[in-house]
Amino acid sequence: MAGRARGSARAVLACLLAPVLVALLVAPARGRGGREHADWDAAKLLPPLPPREKAALVARFVTNVCDWGALATISTQEGVRGRPFADVLSLSDGPPSKGSGVPYFYLSPLQQSVGNLQENPYATLTMSLAETSFCKKYGFDPQSPLCAHIILSGTVVKVSETEVDIAKNSLFIRHPEMKSWPSSHNWFFAKLNITNIWVLDYFGGPKIVTPEEYYNVTFQ
Ligand SMILES: *[C@@H]1O[C@H](CO)[C@@H](O)[C@H](O)[C@H]1NC(C)=O
Ligand SMILES: *[C@@H]1O[C@H](CO)[C@@H](O)[C@H](O)[C@H]1NC(C)=O
Repeated sequence: MAGRARGSARAVLACLLAPVLVALLVAPARGRGGREHADWDAAKLLPPLPPREKAALVARFVTNVCDWGALATISTQEGVRGRPFADVLSLSDGPPSKGSGVPYFYLSPLQQSVGNLQENPYATLTMSLAETSFCKKYGFDPQSPLCAHIILSGTVVKVSETEVDIAKNSLFIRHPEMKSWPSSHNWFFAKLNITNIWVLDYFGGPKIVTPEEYYNVTFQ
């Protein structure tokens, strides 16, 4: 009895220590994370927010300044099947101030969201200036429409061969550590094929922007 108890105590201890050992063995994350996590945003120069009567331009602006978004998919997981499921995904529409408007992703079949998308490609992406220093600087709560945010709905599709280079350049310039993500995860490039856009940047309800208006914007 005592022997078994000691054995299980040892097993519990091993379980507790394993994450610590893994943390010690894994090299520190490269890029903007780590110690300067709280500082990098302040150092990033945010161009001025476009005038709010230009909703399509505001949408393109938010897409371009955001490095990530929350993507909602429909869950395929046991217990929550058919329910909404949102996860944070890194994204990029191109270099700062040179965005194409297309939110590109670097995805792995190991991700829960990707499993969901394989069954149902419909997804909704939210990005907010709360991800930048903007809203804190002006004292805007993330839920306030003054803290401009956008909601893009559509389908997530794998990018075609001809678009892979654009997707790769767009993502790797904003997320350099993606280059060293383990190849065993079978990463692939994908994008949101946008069908509906809502812009929340002022009181009075969301503004509707069509994909045509959104992509028609000349963005600098
Ligand atoms: C994007 O969505 C539109 C509208 O639903 C559709 O016509 C088009 O074929 C889609 N494009 C891709 C690459 O899936
Ligand atoms: C596209 O942009 C041009 C020039 O700014 C404008 O005249 C035209 O109305 C726009 N079209 C759409 C669909 O937004």
